[in-house]
Amino acid sequence: MSTAELDTGLTSDDVSAIEALARQYEHKRAACIEALMAVQRRHRWISDQRLREIAALLDMSPDELDGVATFYNLVYRRPVGRHIIQLCDSVSCWLTGHDGLRAAIEQRLGIRPGETTADGRFTLLPIVCLGHCDHAPALLIDEALHGEVEPDKLDALLAAYR
Ligand code: FES
Repeated sequence: MSTAELDTGLTSDDVSAIEALARQYEHKRAACIEALMAVQRRHRWISDQRLREIAALLDMSPDELDGVATFYNLVYRRPVGRHIIQLCDSVSCWLTGHDGLRAAIEQRLGIRPGETTADGRFTLLPIVCLGHCDHAPALLIDEALHGEVEPDKLDALLAAYR
């Protein structure tokens, strides 16, 4: 699926999944985070059109749902790359080489935090403590946690993600 996927709205499968989630709660809106994540798993990000449609299914206003989506930094409101690098931006990692690691990632990939490589391969995002402080500096690539990431290990690490 293209990084720049068109804002095409929900599929019938999306609608069915959201309706099933909403039925689990007395108030449909209680399913809002699960619904956002379910749609994101299918489409990789939450477009404005999808957000409006999800909100309507959950009896929420688009602004209310956008507030939730914006609060949770794991909900992507813009297209993202095939792989997402979440670089820990908290104190233990600051003390153990975060700045050098971030600079190395930026230099290797030609992107800054919040950006996606031109080939759609990686998106770089900051994240608060990953709970891997004893192996700082740490980062997450998709679901995989990596610790003690030194700049000279980056090329080998990134090469595993195509
Ligand atoms: S501060 Fe980076 S993993 Fe905890």
